Amino acid sequence: MTRPVRIAPSILSADFSKLGAEIEAVDAAGADWIHVDVMDGHYVPNITIGPVVVKGLRPHTPKPFDVHLMISPIDVFLDAFAEAGADTLTVHPEAGPHIHRTVQRIKGLGKRAGVALNPGTPAKMLDYLIDDIDLVLVMSVNPGFGGQRFIDSQLRKIESVRKMIDRTGRAIDLEVDGGIDSETAPRAIAAGADALVAGTATFKGGPDHYAANIAALRGHG
Ligand code: DX5
Ligand code: ZN
Repeated sequence: MTRPVRIAPSILSADFSKLGAEIEAVDAAGADWIHVDVMDGHYVPNITIGPVVVKGLRPHTPKPFDVHLMISPIDVFLDAFAEAGADTLTVHPEAGPHIHRTVQRIKGLGKRAGVALNPGTPAKMLDYLIDDIDLVLVMSVNPGFGGQRFIDSQLRKIESVRKMIDRTGRAIDLEVDGGIDSETAPRAIAAGADALVAGTATFKGGPDHYAANIAALRGHG
């Protein structure tokens, strides 16, 4: 079965001195979603951006904001990111004490709920969440930094999650994040992914290259 693959550039690899223009450029280059990596220096060893920046970027594109929260505590910030203009809020089970409650809260805010699985976290973590969520994010690197190498063992997890999703009969997105390039993208897609995050591979070479970079991830290189 072939399903359309959505490309979500991670703005972590964009030029932070002109994020608005960078988002407009990847929008024009064919990005489907804008992937926003939120890091707190506590849950992950890096610090990026908060809701004020998300709010500032929101007018620069009508495309969905795919907000990946790598922060702990998590629940106290959900409202702020929802109000800032996130469309999907994706959370890590390890970042809070009650993942089910966190998912319910996201749904209560009227947003799409995603659950992210770290490389060491089993697909089984989703057993009692899958019926309530809209997206699964399989991390193919450990969270915290762009530019890391794709971890091959995650392909098996993508396959397991694809089966779980298909069993639900619901349209749940299966997104893969980390080390995606024109070599790893087709492998992730073959394993069942239908959305790919790409930071380094999207932004390499600057704005003149974004359209070709995104096309290459779709296999139209
Ligand atoms: C890592 C982030 C990723 C990262 C991907 O914690 O969640 O979104 O920016 O970067 P690349 O595509 O460079 O591996
Ligand atoms: Zn991410």
